[in-house]
Amino acid sequence: MISSDVEPFIGIFSSLAALGQINVEVWNATKPVFSSVSRPQEISVSREARDFAGRVRRRATFQHAVFGDQRHVFGMPVNNGQEPIGALIAYPANADRGSNCAIFDEQQETGGKDMERLLGHMAGLIEQRCGTQTEIESLASELSKALEDIYVYSTVAGQIKTLKFPGHKQTDLAEDIMKAMRMDLVFIVMPEREDNNVIVSRKGFCANQRDLESFVKNLNAAILRDTVQEAEDYFMINDSSQNQVFSRLHSNAYRFLAVKIQHENNLYGWLGLVSFKTDEIFRRSELRLLMSMAEQLALVLFGSDLYYDLERLLIHVVKSLVFAIEAKDVYTRGHSERVSHYCMRLAAHLGLDDKEKKVLQLAALLHDIGKIGTPEQILTKPASLDNEEMKRIREHPQKGYNILKPLEKLSDSLPGILYHHERYDGQGYPSRLKGEEIPFQARLIAVADTFDALATDRGYRAARSPREALAIMEKAAGTQLDPHCVALFKEVINQDLKVGDNVQDC
Ligand SMILES: [Fe+2]
Repeated sequence: MISSDVEPFIGIFSSLAALGQINVEVWNATKPVFSSVSRPQEISVSREARDFAGRVRRRATFQHAVFGDQRHVFGMPVNNGQEPIGALIAYPANADRGSNCAIFDEQQETGGKDMERLLGHMAGLIEQRCGTQTEIESLASELSKALEDIYVYSTVAGQIKTLKFPGHKQTDLAEDIMKAMRMDLVFIVMPEREDNNVIVSRKGFCANQRDLESFVKNLNAAILRDTVQEAEDYFMINDSSQNQVFSRLHSNAYRFLAVKIQHENNLYGWLGLVSFKTDEIFRRSELRLLMSMAEQLALVLFGSDLYYDLERLLIHVVKSLVFAIEAKDVYTRGHSERVSHYCMRLAAHLGLDDKEKKVLQLAALLHDIGKIGTPEQILTKPASLDNEEMKRIREHPQKGYNILKPLEKLSDSLPGILYHHERYDGQGYPSRLKGEEIPFQARLIAVADTFDALATDRGYRAARSPREALAIMEKAAGTQLDPHCVALFKEVINQDLKVGDNVQDC
């Protein structure tokens, strides 16, 4: 290290030599690493010089000696902090000058005080340089680790931001962590949200998926058993072969780090890493990074809990409203719940996503909410309705729309409510929309609504069997109802009939 540290001083040393009076050598622990003498072979490696350099280093103070050729030699130790790392040696540039060299003669008279000062300055500069170099190297190493962490974090941060539960993006997050942190296995385990659990591993980590799941399960059970570290926010094993419990879980030695996924007092589970590289250890910065990721994950979970609490509250309020309307008419009690159930069966059959399902569910539950303003005697009339009564009844989709329009949370469900009485042939109400002009959710609700109306008792007629109801609906396909939706509905109901569900009681 000392050889490169003197490079900046070559100019000074060479200028001194050029004055023709002093040669300067820098020695490390064993040999000279620099000499101001222009011809390298002249670098002094005599036994006398080696002994003198060793003496300077050992005694760690300024030294003066006279060699056998009468040459005066001066030496100053070079330290790195408290540690002596070499020696700075000065002697007359020309051996023949010997004591004729004025500067050395003067030094002899003054006890070498000026030479001590000069070498002291030079050694001080080299020491500063050494210190700076060490600091730079340590900073560079810190910087490189920090950059690696930033890289890992930036790779996974995008995944965290877009995480939604329930969802499957946490698998992408685990895979990114595995790749960026060069791990062999990454898991997210949450006992109360098993649907969100994720295990990703490199090929061959375990013989098969069952072994892999069992390894992670045992690993988590072992964490919980370890009461010593339970209070900590993380759990770390740097070499499983040194631990009786953990060494039994896998035939290869591994290191293991897991951090708690928690927010405030909610502990959701553990985010864990496993690596077979036991010659490395988990760095403090890696622990900090993983904890920060787990915290973000917990925040997303906490946020999604709040979101789902609001969703549940909304559904609860909606159901109470519907119950209030249906309480007016014994024949339609439970109708909206059943229509919603059929719509959810259709949604699952169609593979709709969570958001589309929620929109359809709310629309189905609320499709008749406008009847809240319809007189009870019209709703419960056991005979056919006259024109005026029919007009009042036909107002309910628009009334429902008007009631719910101010609620932003329900805005996507409004088309299903407003248009559930439109007919495929354009003869429906309130807007006489035709075919695919009618929003898809409204066409689905129309099918489910019709089936439930046919398959339950009404004041003016008895319930049809599911098969009879389906047959009637097939006749109405293309006129009243969307034929594609009727076909889909038939598939769903037939599946239910095959497994023995009582469709009327759904
Ligand atoms: Fe209706």
